[in-house]
Amino acid sequence: MNVCVPCDSTAVSIGADEVADALTRNDPAITVKRTGSRGLYWLEPMVEVERDGQRIGYGPVTAGDIPGLLDALRSGDTGHPLCVGDVEALLESQGQRRLTLRRTGVVAPGEWADYVANGGTEGLRKALDMEPQSIVDAVKESGLRGRGGAGFPTGIKWQTVHDAEATPKYIVCNADEGDSGTFADRMLMEGDPLALLEGMTIAGLAVGAEQGYIYLRSEYPDAHRMLERALESARTNGMLGDSVLGSGRAFDIEVRIGAGAYICGEETSLLESLEGKRGMIRFKPPLPAIQGFLSRPTVVNNVITLGTVPTILAEGAEVHSSLGMNKSRGTLTIQLCGNVARPGLYEIPFGVTLGHVINDLGGGCASGRPPRAVQVGGPLGAYMPVERFDTPMAYEEFGEAGGMIGHGGVVVFDDTVDMAAQARFALEFCSIESCGKCTPCRIGSVRGQEVIDRITDDDDREANIALLRELCETMIEGSLCAHGGMAPYPVLSALNHFPDDFEPRTTAAV
Ligand SMILES: Cc1cc2nc3c(=O)[nH]c(=O)nc-3n(C[C@H](O)[C@H](O)[C@H](O)COP(=O)(O)O)c2cc1C
Ligand code: SF4
Repeated sequence: MNVCVPCDSTAVSIGADEVADALTRNDPAITVKRTGSRGLYWLEPMVEVERDGQRIGYGPVTAGDIPGLLDALRSGDTGHPLCVGDVEALLESQGQRRLTLRRTGVVAPGEWADYVANGGTEGLRKALDMEPQSIVDAVKESGLRGRGGAGFPTGIKWQTVHDAEATPKYIVCNADEGDSGTFADRMLMEGDPLALLEGMTIAGLAVGAEQGYIYLRSEYPDAHRMLERALESARTNGMLGDSVLGSGRAFDIEVRIGAGAYICGEETSLLESLEGKRGMIRFKPPLPAIQGFLSRPTVVNNVITLGTVPTILAEGAEVHSSLGMNKSRGTLTIQLCGNVARPGLYEIPFGVTLGHVINDLGGGCASGRPPRAVQVGGPLGAYMPVERFDTPMAYEEFGEAGGMIGHGGVVVFDDTVDMAAQARFALEFCSIESCGKCTPCRIGSVRGQEVIDRITDDDDREANIALLRELCETMIEGSLCAHGGMAPYPVLSALNHFPDDFEPRTTAAV
């Protein structure tokens, strides 16, 4: 019997290793394959039993469940209470369309034969037969936009680096994943790291770079281990090195570990850190595409952006451009968490509504209470009230509703949330993580916390609300980068949608 058990760090943190041990202890004839996670986190640890060409899921499973589960499987009993049926069918029933995470949860991470047997290297092999400009054109045609937050068109960024004359050029993968409630990058790196390496190699071929760097946050030791395993596998099998898959074209990748600063996720700060300096924001222009790493033309792309590229090359730009809505093409890796019954990762074409994600996919709040606010797009994203649940999850449409898609993190709060405290937290986070280069962010974020305290202490309330709005305006207009420039959005959205929470503490509704 073949059984898959995730080695994804979320699953491991709640007992997946113990489940794997219990399987082999109870039946040494069982072959246990460790995979990434499918992202159905409310079912973790979930085991998948291979039967008649399908993978039947059971979850959440504890080590103590294993003897009973094995008895049921041996007797052909498919009605086990933890059975969730065919996992692929379950993902499909949720409307998932896995382009980026197609192998995550399916293959053994970093195992070359498994990777190739499941479509790995198909995109790279096609790219090796194409002119660099044709690769850039394919990415443009796909409509792929950066998944790291800003949603900038990837093909246009690649074109700039392709056209730049200075050499050498570099590919830098932003794997800092600092946004609250996000884990898609980690899931891909832990579950299908070779896809990221393949995407970076294709980017190198497209723009004429021979060296790539993955800037990985230090808080991801398991992803680091998987990436190193994948790098070794890719070099041993000729995907990386002096002659990529025997083409005579060179490309290699190195992992560099960050030191836990949120601001090092911003691309210019990341490049400073990658060069061994303190992570401070650089003025733009020049853009990193013109003068990036070591002042050379550099593609900086997010993990999910680069991880999507192999599928686009393998299956054609159309497979990506045909999904989604308006200018948001392809799929969004929605990371659903916070107070929600079914947290996890849902890879869904752009355009589903926020309400569908929270209520239909997520099953509402885990507390059983009604949802009240949702923060989308990380700590700098606006809080969306229930009245905006009809907003489509797409870049422009979400922006028009006052929100930000960002990296696709969705954090749910029920009706017990204190939105004044959340607004204060946004500014506290901004002040702690500020690089300190400009005054509106460095000083404004501290003063903003004091002003909120005065509002909730009923100290000249109306005047301080006006002052808070003015301060937010100054930060938006005067900050050098989006850290200080966007931190006011959660504050203003809390103030605008939940004014009752800014009542004096003694009479507050919460
Ligand atoms: C404060 C701040 C933090 C950021 N953190 C990240 C991050 O952790 N990961 C990421 O990919 N992009 C992050 N970004 C966005 C990057 O600056 C950049 O836009 C992105 O890496 C470009 O890749 P993409 O085009 O593939 O999205 C951040 C931006 C800001 C302003
Ligand atoms: S806005 Fe904040 S993080 Fe950005 S440059 Fe200014 S001080 Fe640094």
